[in-house]
Amino acid sequence: MNTSRQINSDLWYIGASDRRLALFENMMPVPRGASYNSYLLLDEKTVLLDTADQAVSAQFLENLTATLAGRALDFVVIHHVEPDHLASLTEVLVRWPNAVVVCSLQASRMMKQFMDIAENVQIQVVKEGDALNTGKHTLNFVGAQMVHWPEVLVSYDSVDKVLFSADAFGTFGAISGNLYADEVNFDREWMDEARRYYTNIVGKYGMQVQNLLKKAATLDIAMICPLHGPIWRKDFGKFIEKYDKWSRYEPEDKEILLVYGSMYGHTESVATVLAGLLADKGCRNIQMYDVSATHVSYLVSESFRCSHIILIAPTYNGGLYPPMENYLLDIKAHLLQNRTFTVIENGSWAPVSGNAVKAILGEMKNTTVLEPSITFKSSMKETQRAELEALVDAIVTSFK
Ligand code: FEO
Repeated sequence: MNTSRQINSDLWYIGASDRRLALFENMMPVPRGASYNSYLLLDEKTVLLDTADQAVSAQFLENLTATLAGRALDFVVIHHVEPDHLASLTEVLVRWPNAVVVCSLQASRMMKQFMDIAENVQIQVVKEGDALNTGKHTLNFVGAQMVHWPEVLVSYDSVDKVLFSADAFGTFGAISGNLYADEVNFDREWMDEARRYYTNIVGKYGMQVQNLLKKAATLDIAMICPLHGPIWRKDFGKFIEKYDKWSRYEPEDKEILLVYGSMYGHTESVATVLAGLLADKGCRNIQMYDVSATHVSYLVSESFRCSHIILIAPTYNGGLYPPMENYLLDIKAHLLQNRTFTVIENGSWAPVSGNAVKAILGEMKNTTVLEPSITFKSSMKETQRAELEALVDAIVTSFK
């Protein structure tokens, strides 16, 4: 059945959601699924704006066919060639072989790496500043390199003031009827997944996101149509502010993230005592995660949100407990910076995890490691409670 939705007089949503997907990019859990947004502009010329993931290809093609209602497809704009948006292109071109593919030069090369494009398919290469007139509408192309791949363009329909923003302003999560962000409680239901999507997918490219935000600020935008998640048609200033903050690596909240690894519970016990002491000193909304039990994508997201990060980890194989190492290498890879850390190490005979943590933190920008760092052997005894209390004082003082 055709699931398309009309957005504007000439614009349709023809994407689809996947609720069966376990891991986005075969890596990140998506318990709320994912949407693959695709749009169809029915002007004097017809324009498909991106295709959809293989998993929803049948629904996408049905929507496209039904919404075209017998008209030819004139153009396929490919903003981004990652297969979650490109995968159905070959099926589109089989059905509409005369459609002209419009994309950046790099996209024209990369798409041929992913799929065989027939020799007779026309490809129109565009770059920032170029425009595609379709009759009443004009799509103006804007470079968005590394948001999230190097070939990305976004486009702006200057008639309806619609920004087709590619991965930018997207979120994890399937669409449940409500197509617009103003129809849902975005802060309550979507923001955490939007943050997890941004930080894990584009978090590394803060500078490039800043470049795109500067370009977007020059446009009179009435609607943002991303490739994932709800469409924005009002009150998107707050979401843009989040993007600005995330891409400048500024914490959203002056709050504590406590990440610990624990094999037999002794390290967890220290984490629990420390969190209680912090709460007694007035710290609110402390978030405590077992690094082994939490997918790292959630930890990356929380690390972008919180100003203070406490790390408590055992020594393992003469180095750092591997799940903790994996988490730290991930936030380092995402260029997390401007954070205040606290380090506690455990080790039964030769504790070294603290130094291993600090070595990674030392390779990250603008990190502060509060003293004292604490070492305990196997399990912490009451005789060390004073050390924990001194550390709590240092953390509380650093909030002021
Ligand atoms: Fe949704 Fe970078 O692809």
